[in-house]
Amino acid sequence: MSESYCFGLGVGTHNAKGEWLEVYYHQPVLNPSAALYNAVKPLIESASDTTSCRLNGGQLASLATTLGSAGEDEQASIAQKLASSKRPVVLSLFTTDTAPTSVPGAYLKLHLLSHRLVKPHQTDLTGIFGVLQNVAWTNKGAIDLDELPQRQLKARLKGKTLTVECVDKFPKMTNYIVPKGVRIAHTARVRLGAYIGEGTTIMHEGFVNFNAGTMGTSMIEGRVSAGVVIGEGSDLGGGCSTMGTLSGGGNIVISVGKECLLGANAGIGIPLGDRCIVESGLYITAGSKLNLLDDSNNVVQEIKARELAGKSDLLFRRNSLTGILECKTNKTAIALNEELHANN
Ligand SMILES: CC(C)(COP(=O)(O)OP(=O)(O)OC[C@H]1O[C@@H](n2cnc3c(N)ncnc32)[C@H](O)[C@@H]1OP(=O)(O)O)[C@@H](O)C(=O)NCCC(=O)NCCS
Repeated sequence: MSESYCFGLGVGTHNAKGEWLEVYYHQPVLNPSAALYNAVKPLIESASDTTSCRLNGGQLASLATTLGSAGEDEQASIAQKLASSKRPVVLSLFTTDTAPTSVPGAYLKLHLLSHRLVKPHQTDLTGIFGVLQNVAWTNKGAIDLDELPQRQLKARLKGKTLTVECVDKFPKMTNYIVPKGVRIAHTARVRLGAYIGEGTTIMHEGFVNFNAGTMGTSMIEGRVSAGVVIGEGSDLGGGCSTMGTLSGGGNIVISVGKECLLGANAGIGIPLGDRCIVESGLYITAGSKLNLLDDSNNVVQEIKARELAGKSDLLFRRNSLTGILECKTNKTAIALNEELHANN
């Protein structure tokens, strides 16, 4: 068994006060080997932050040698390259899966997700909002918001425009990692910390938050809120919504099973099992009352949607004549359009 939880050598950005704004980890490691752990442990032990420490060129060059002798060639090569970095370099190591307490630690955890080393909910992200800085993400990299006006003026005086792509605590995932086998039409709509399974296509309307994502082949044209997991073969139609738990009292963690279809502009406040369909435009909240129909469309029971949470093979619709929500057995499992969804 590995003696530690995760490790990464990263290069990042400081603000003028020397505080971390963001960190890029080229190759984060989950459950590092004992050899890797022993090579880096002495460096972290002398740091004030228990999970990360800044390294200078000399330390990195000697770490590269130690890692090389320990047989950790890939990490040795990264250390060697970082030894000549003009930007601040950090080593992060979590001995156990604890909540992040620093920007480098938080970024390492987000990298684990986007590198598909852990799935959503598999790593402790408690308090991450409080740890991360709100940052201006620009064509010149991450800039502290307090320093932005001066940087904008400086650019203008040179006849240039500093382009602010977004202002957020979380950067675009693709500026850190593009996982294999995905299509992402609008990269700003996927935050670092998203887990995007191989075979996923995210169209312009799609959005994927951190600690959320798709397990495999999927078509995402709707919102995948924080914490939401979408099963293999499922399709989220244009503008649909999965209810988040970060605000507004929603406390059921939403998931979508395999081969489900959320119609365009539909929404769910309950988790779905496998092979479920939600009619286009229909929002099912947990407290919604529905009529359960049999195969001949006779009402067999009135039920609250939350009682159907996680159940498979259901079709939800709003009766277009009466306005009553209805749920019946779904007999037509969806199949993703192969031509549209092929990624490679
Ligand atoms: C809910 C949905 C799946 C039903 O489609 P379907 O299973 O093909 O069903 P049909 O349209 O063939 O209808 C079957 C029967 O149910 C009836 N029906 C369908 N929706 C109904 C509704 N909301 N209220 C009352 N009756 C309805 C039909 O009139 C039809 O009746 P009939 O047997 O008397 O002819 C479909 O309407 C839908 O919303 N699909 C989502 C597509 C989508 O948004 N994709 C993503 C694109 S980005």
